[in-house]
Amino acid sequence: MSAFARQAAVPARAGIGFKLPHTEAILAAPERVGFVEIHAENFMSAGGPPHHMLARVRDLLPVSLHGVGLSIGAEGPLDRAHLARLAEVARRYEPGLVSEHLAWSTHAGAYFNDLLPLPYNAATLARVVAHIDEVQEALGRPMLLENPSSYLAFDASTMDEIEFIRRVVAATGCGLILDVNNVFVSASNLGFSAGEYVAAFPLEAVGEIHLAGHAVDGEGAPAGSGHGGPDGLGRGAGEAGGGRVGRGGAADGEAGGERIGQGYGVPNGETGSVPGGRGYGAPNGEMGSAPIGRGYGAPNGEAGGAAFRQRHNGEAGGGPIGQGYGAPNGDLHGASGERHGGPLLIDAHDREVAPPVWALYADVVARIGRPVPTLIEWDNAVPDFATLAAEAARADRTMGEALAGDA
Ligand SMILES: [Fe+2]
Repeated sequence: MSAFARQAAVPARAGIGFKLPHTEAILAAPERVGFVEIHAENFMSAGGPPHHMLARVRDLLPVSLHGVGLSIGAEGPLDRAHLARLAEVARRYEPGLVSEHLAWSTHAGAYFNDLLPLPYNAATLARVVAHIDEVQEALGRPMLLENPSSYLAFDASTMDEIEFIRRVVAATGCGLILDVNNVFVSASNLGFSAGEYVAAFPLEAVGEIHLAGHAVDGEGAPAGSGHGGPDGLGRGAGEAGGGRVGRGGAADGEAGGERIGQGYGVPNGETGSVPGGRGYGAPNGEMGSAPIGRGYGAPNGEAGGAAFRQRHNGEAGGGPIGQGYGAPNGDLHGASGERHGGPLLIDAHDREVAPPVWALYADVVARIGRPVPTLIEWDNAVPDFATLAAEAARADRTMGEALAGDA
């Protein structure tokens, strides 16, 4: 039987995401990190080597349990079976913290491969509050809710994200993860001030911070191919989609999307979605949202969904997909577009934390005024344990300096 203490508290220092290949390295030097964070969905099966490895690590380090599949923001009811599995993982590993995203990834029985944003209004607030109540009831404890990274804003929003999150906290008593990289990415993509965002954030409710690296969309992609807008009327990606292969997605007809390089196919029409790369929400036809490329909304069809406010390109919307613009569909054909705004940032979790994100982190910690468990989120192109531990050590240093007033 495992010897780990019940619900060992996650210490207020830096930790890393648990990757199975790092097991032995972690066991050899567990003191290099304060905790490990696990993705709940990776441990929902009953048995197997992953559980064996995690149990050994869990004997030495506290665990933070992070769910990515509950779809807290979904329109329909929570998936009770998924929630039961989450509660079972929590029972088994007794994590010090349990968290989920303010996002949705399911709609009408379809599962998307990514976390999609939602509009902020009274209806979505009531839904999210009810879902968090249900999760906390099932877990028998408060959860932390993570701020999203955003690539588009919704016309259907009647309050800003901060106000929405404040109301969720007030209504549910949940805590928060402040993902500093998400703030930086969203601020850059949507054109708001990251500093003002964190200053307004309900920092007293923050129980964990996330730090991650981000990518600039279009890196390494072929130049000059990022234009064109799908019209959603059935053209293949090659014809209508345009966009950068490798990052882009393209709307397709009823058959749904196709995988395009690293990008994602874009589900369209009634058949719903094919998972696409790092795609983001594009409400589309009857299925509601559908991932497009890397994060660009493309309102489409009668179900509408999100109208693009940012980087809107003329009446038809349209715009380069590869560089991250929405191509509204429906009656208005996507227009071949010129680029608007700066490059789109993507929360890729595939590299070191960027310098301005470290600076924002120091600002956040100084504002909070207490040390906070901080996760280095590095989920793609994962380096060795020593590299992750070095990033964690840098977070510990930065936190200490910020609290000492040296940052
Ligand atoms: Fe995060």
